[in-house]
Amino acid sequence: MEVIVAKTAGFCFGVQRAVDKVYEQTEKKKGPIYTYGPIIHNEEVVKDLEARGVRVIESRRELEQLASGTVIIRSHGVGRDIYRLIQEKGLELVDATCPFVKKIHRIVEKESREGKQIVIIGSDSHPEVEGIKGWCVGKTTVIATEEEAEGFVPEAGKNLCIVSQTTFNNNKFKNLVEIISKKGYDSNAINTICSATDERQREAAQIAKRAGAMIVIGGRHSSNTQKLFEICQKECENTYYIQTLVDLEPILLPPVDCVGITAGASTPNHIIKEVQTYVRNEF
Ligand code: F3S
Repeated sequence: MEVIVAKTAGFCFGVQRAVDKVYEQTEKKKGPIYTYGPIIHNEEVVKDLEARGVRVIESRRELEQLASGTVIIRSHGVGRDIYRLIQEKGLELVDATCPFVKKIHRIVEKESREGKQIVIIGSDSHPEVEGIKGWCVGKTTVIATEEEAEGFVPEAGKNLCIVSQTTFNNNKFKNLVEIISKKGYDSNAINTICSATDERQREAAQIAKRAGAMIVIGGRHSSNTQKLFEICQKECENTYYIQTLVDLEPILLPPVDCVGITAGASTPNHIIKEVQTYVRNEF
């Protein structure tokens, strides 16, 4: 039986880099270590880090109360005020913001300083968008739906700079930009979507098309894993959603020639390997 593991399964470059940075800090053992928000949405990893002395800070208020230690900023990034606060408090800063997100910070900072009104295509409540807003000078608008794009009116006399959340859907971004552009405003749209999510989904669909059974690994609450599952299910009726190997063990895979495996962005590599070894040995 053939087993195909997606090359894009698991951590993207930015998440891998952030997780590595936290583990690096735990080895230095220089005092208390905090991450500003969970480093990834994976309970197992967060628990493992906790056991190594890493605490998760959930809010700015908690950050204000720290007296010493190292604060690690996760791949989503944060606004300028959080950097300032860390500096003012004399805390050590380790910046694990994904370089692709950092690039958006630089763009919006420059463009808004030059007088443009920034429009962010994305979800207003997402921490990445929160962080991007925190680099803008002046009014910022977040747009996620066609209705919001239709109803959008910029400040009088303002030119626009449109950027997107890195994980936004490409087609949706183009569509929303078109709606805004059609209104005749002077706008400059910069597509800042990261290709990692797109590539992962495309590869998963290709493998699922070939495979007789498909295994999707990821957290139950991980929205990108849920999306992967839906995509694979469309192509392969024997698609299974598991969090770890434990969920796979009671499942009897049908007799097939080829099993495909993919995983969401917050699935650690060792879980993917365990599943892969199990499938190769047991079926
Ligand atoms: Fe990952 Fe960075 Fe892209 S965190 S999804 S590589 S923007």
